[in-house]
Amino acid sequence: MEAYGYHAPVLPDETVSLLVTGPGIYIDGTLGGGGHSLLILRRLGETGGLGRSLLVGIDQDTNALDEASRKLVEFQGSSMFVRGNFSTVGDVARSAGEGPGRGLPVMGILLDLGVSSFQIDTPERGFSYLRNGPLDMRMDPDGPVTAADIVNGYEEKALASLFRRYGEEPLGGRIARALVAARGAGRISTTGELAALVKGACPRKDLAVKTLSRVYQALRIEVNDELGVLEEALEEGFEALSPGGRMAVISYHSLEDRIVKRFFASKAAEDWGPKGVALREPLAPAKAIQVTRKAVTATQEEIDRNPRSRSARLRVVQKL
Ligand SMILES: C[S@@+](CC[C@H](N)C(=O)[O-])C[C@H]1O[C@@H](n2cnc3c(N)ncnc32)[C@H](O)[C@@H]1O
Repeated sequence: MEAYGYHAPVLPDETVSLLVTGPGIYIDGTLGGGGHSLLILRRLGETGGLGRSLLVGIDQDTNALDEASRKLVEFQGSSMFVRGNFSTVGDVARSAGEGPGRGLPVMGILLDLGVSSFQIDTPERGFSYLRNGPLDMRMDPDGPVTAADIVNGYEEKALASLFRRYGEEPLGGRIARALVAARGAGRISTTGELAALVKGACPRKDLAVKTLSRVYQALRIEVNDELGVLEEALEEGFEALSPGGRMAVISYHSLEDRIVKRFFASKAAEDWGPKGVALREPLAPAKAIQVTRKAVTATQEEIDRNPRSRSARLRVVQKL
C-alpha cells in the first residue's frame, strides 16, 4: 500500500478506471499531493500508452506543486505542472496541445474539489476550527481576500446570507449578529477566536460542531469563489475535451455536487426545444453520455481507512 503523508487520494481505483480510456493528454486540475496523477500515469504505463501521453497538473498552491513534482519525479518526461486556477483549464489544454502534447487528444480531465489534508492540517493556512491560526483560508496563498477580511468587513446582512447560502446554516443570522457585535471589541483574526464566537452563538452546544463546519465551509467557498470557478472549469474543460474524452469530478458537499450533476445532465440531454412543441427529432443531439448514472461513493473499507472519503461523490461524463 502506498504511503500518502500529504493527502491520500479519494476513490483512487474508481477514479482511474473510469477516467483513463487510452493514451492522450490528461489534466489533473486539482493536483494536490499528486496522488491521483501518479495513479493515472501508472495506469497509462501499465496499458502501454505512456509514450503517447502527457499528464498536466494544475494547482494554485505552490506547496502542492512542490509535493507533486517530488512524487511524480519518475514520470518527469510525461508530466508538466502549472500554477494557476483550474478555471483556466481550457487555456492550459490548448497550450499543452500546442506544446509538449502536440497532436495528442485531450482524453481526461479530473477535478477533486476542495482542500487537501495538508492544507487543513497546516494551522497557518487557517482552514480548520480545530487548529488555531490566522483566519486565512486562501488556497492560493497570494489570493486577494482572506476569511478575516470577510468576517471583519462584510455587513451583518451579507454575512448572514453567506452562511445560509454557502453553509446552508439555519443559524446564519444569529451568528452574523454575534460576529458583528464582537467586532466592536477589535478585529477577529484567528480561527480560534472565530470558533469561540460561533460556539457562543449556538443555543445547543451539542450541535455546535455541525454549525462550525458549515460556517467554515461558507467562508472557504467565498474566499476562493469555489462555486464560480467550478462552473467555469466545467464549461471550459468540457469544451477542451476531444471526442471520447472524459471528465471526472469528485465533490464533497451538496452545493458542488448539484452543480456537477446538473452540468453533466445538461450535456447528456437532447434539445427538444420549448415545452409543448412537438418535434420529430431533437433540435440538437446530446453532447455527452453519463458514464456514472448515480454518483460513485466510497466503500466502508475506504471510509475506515480514509475518513475524508465519507462525503465524496464521483461523477463522470464522456464527450461524444
Ligand atoms: C482535494 S485536493 C486534491 C488532492 C489530489 N487529488 C491528490 O490525490 O493528492 C485539492 C487540491 O486542489 C487545489 N485546488 C482547489 N481548488 C482549486 C482551483 N480552483 N484551482 C487550482 N487548484 C485548486 C487545492 O489547492 C488542493 O491542493
